[in-house]
Amino acid sequence: MTQDRIQNLHVRAVDVTLQGVVCYSPRTNRIRKGYLMPMPGLRRMDHVGFTVPDLDEAHRFLVDALGCEYLYSLGPFRFEDGDDWMLTHLNVHPRAEMVENRWFRCGDQAVFEVFHYTSPDQRDAIPRNSDIGGHHVALYVDDLDAAVAHLESHGVRVLAGPTASKGPAEGNRWIYFLSPWGMQFELVSYPGGKAWDRESSARQDGPHD
Ligand SMILES: [Fe+2]
Repeated sequence: MTQDRIQNLHVRAVDVTLQGVVCYSPRTNRIRKGYLMPMPGLRRMDHVGFTVPDLDEAHRFLVDALGCEYLYSLGPFRFEDGDDWMLTHLNVHPRAEMVENRWFRCGDQAVFEVFHYTSPDQRDAIPRNSDIGGHHVALYVDDLDAAVAHLESHGVRVLAGPTASKGPAEGNRWIYFLSPWGMQFELVSYPGGKAWDRESSARQDGPHD
């Protein structure tokens, strides 16, 4: 397999398996196995880190509204003039200080590492989904409507919806909500699975290009 061939293959989805990498080509609607090497030992996402303006406020939101479990706290990290550890290790201003971070587990998987930073060049704009660097964190719930009612009872700003997905994501329902500091979160639920999940098994059993 040449590099050009690999780049021309418009890989849309990659699934790391114990046997190697499985890639779906929308051009041919077929699965190809094993021509890319997976990163050795890759298992799963471990945690999501984000920086907040008020760590105590974020703590209350994550624990009281979302039901996350507080795990532990680390910090502070700060270094004297002339020591660029913060720049070389964390890619932040050398005089930035990581005052504290707190770790939270939400449900049986999601782990958040939530930071309180100070920095001479700190920016405080919250990116929207349409901005470069925009992002959101999606939480899976068993009952989307019950979860929405729960959030609203805690005064959380929930956006319009829920919306039922179509196409490859059919079976999913989703809705966005905002943290007190404006960071975007999402609830998703697909108790019967998504269409893509069901159809991908059939594709893997079909002919390979
Ligand atoms: Fe999402």
